[in-house]
Amino acid sequence: MKAPVRVAVTGAAGQIGYALLFRIAAGDMLGKDQPVILHLLEITPALDALKGVVMELNDCAFPLLADIVATDDANVAFKDADYALLVGARPRGAGMERKDLLEANGKIFGPQGKALNDHAKRDVKVLVVGNPANTNALIAQQNAPDLDPKCFTAMVRLDHNRAMSQLAEKTGKHNTDIKKMIIWGNHSSTQYPDLHHVTVDGKNAMELVDQAWYEGEFIPTVQQRGAAIIKARGASSAASAASAAIDHMRSWALGTDEGDWVSMGIPSDGSYGIEPGVIYGYPVTCKDGKYEIVQGLEINDFSRARMDATAKELHEERSAVEGLFAK
Ligand code: NAD
Ligand code: LMR
Repeated sequence: MKAPVRVAVTGAAGQIGYALLFRIAAGDMLGKDQPVILHLLEITPALDALKGVVMELNDCAFPLLADIVATDDANVAFKDADYALLVGARPRGAGMERKDLLEANGKIFGPQGKALNDHAKRDVKVLVVGNPANTNALIAQQNAPDLDPKCFTAMVRLDHNRAMSQLAEKTGKHNTDIKKMIIWGNHSSTQYPDLHHVTVDGKNAMELVDQAWYEGEFIPTVQQRGAAIIKARGASSAASAASAAIDHMRSWALGTDEGDWVSMGIPSDGSYGIEPGVIYGYPVTCKDGKYEIVQGLEINDFSRARMDATAKELHEERSAVEGLFAK
């Protein structure tokens, strides 16, 4: 049996936390041969609720769950963390854009970035789920000067999975027939789900759908799916968000499949003309615990305009939060 790794989860008593922790403990994220020690962070008023979650985790008698640390202190939660899933933040309500949460949520991520900087493993893999995820990840990164900036990522995998499911339905295929989906940019309504490089059963997706459906239905449906779920459920997505977080971390830790890639929000390095300084959704392959941007994809004018629009929004969000960066 492998030695246990430490997985920190913030907002552990929240909706997503409740859908996430049991799957991590069951081995869905890091494999059925990888024991885990869960480090659960909550705000002080939620510690009682967290106690109940810990009781339930224990009651599952998971073979892979080696220990649980439950705390309201980020310095304890991130101590020696190998993985950190930053979920704890307010969800939006109906009629809000995710960036409307920046003021309420942005200030959570500076101190957590600093605590990661001071206490986590030097190769910690950080996934920010709390919205607005890309810019919150940037805030955390900018407060962790001693960690590699590439340790900080944001979740666009839910959008990636939503796009797969929409295309599978349209083409009458199963999502396992679909490869090379891309979500460029921000986890927001400017995100650009790009079908130009996608294959369905080996055929190019753009040859199977018409431009009117692509522009008029597919793109807006994926961009607005979070809002549609809030409207239908009266609360934001939770189980699908948790599942996407598991997928993101599993791909990063265990690698992507041969002949396919996934979408991750990662620090822009200038690839595809995206100015550095933001956390941008890119197609990546992962191997040996590292991600790499897929290079050399042809970008047409339609895609270029949308990729630039979502980059512009991220740079605007950055300008709004620069006061939260460590000096
Ligand atoms: P929730 O309100 O059910 O749970 C959030 C939890 O975070 C609460 O228990 C709260 O006490 C805790 N929390 C708040 N501040 C904290 C802090 N400083 N440290 C630790 N814990 C803290 O919300 P939820 O439905 O679980 O959603 C959490 C976040 O995830 C929201 O911001 C939501 O918008 C976002 N989200 C992102 C995606 C994505 O694709 N990136 C998808 C779904 C939801
Ligand atoms: C989602 O995409 O479901 C989440 O980001 C929640 C939201 O606010 O839409």
